Amino acid sequence: MTSILMVCLGNICRSPLAHGILQSKLSQDHFYVDSAGTANYHVGDSPDSRSIAVAKSHGIDISNQRGRQFKVSDFDTFDYIYVMDQSNFDNVAKLARNNKDIAKIKLILEVDSSVNNKRVPDPYYGEILDFEHVFSLLDSACEILSKELTNSSR
Ligand code: 4NP
Repeated sequence: MTSILMVCLGNICRSPLAHGILQSKLSQDHFYVDSAGTANYHVGDSPDSRSIAVAKSHGIDISNQRGRQFKVSDFDTFDYIYVMDQSNFDNVAKLARNNKDIAKIKLILEVDSSVNNKRVPDPYYGEILDFEHVFSLLDSACEILSKELTNSSR
């Protein structure tokens, strides 16, 4: 089993989308996908209603996800940790115990060479169009990532 963790700040807007999108592209027999936030603001909360709506419009149900905070043991549980922006990277890296932990952390948009700006913008204070933009960025990245993961697990 290969395990992948998607991380943002609140775990209600971006990482729940990344979690649902990647999960929809991978075999659940071989891959475990989860998400977490670096902050504790939304522990136990459902994803933002706008993330739920945008995912639903693309045929993905993320309504059963609940927010949780990133914890140091996630470095042991997960093979790959994908963060949405540099601030998430720095927050997760602060909790790393060694270079092996650090090596697991990647900006998710680094997988997509067609994208110049590697930041998935935080849509929390934005509009539904901002959530659509985030969905589109993450869908392209997860399409590439799912192929890479599936090939490397063979
Ligand atoms: P996320 O967005 O990191 O994509 O889940 C945010 C959600 C909530 C807050 C900030 C960002 N907040 O400050 O509560």
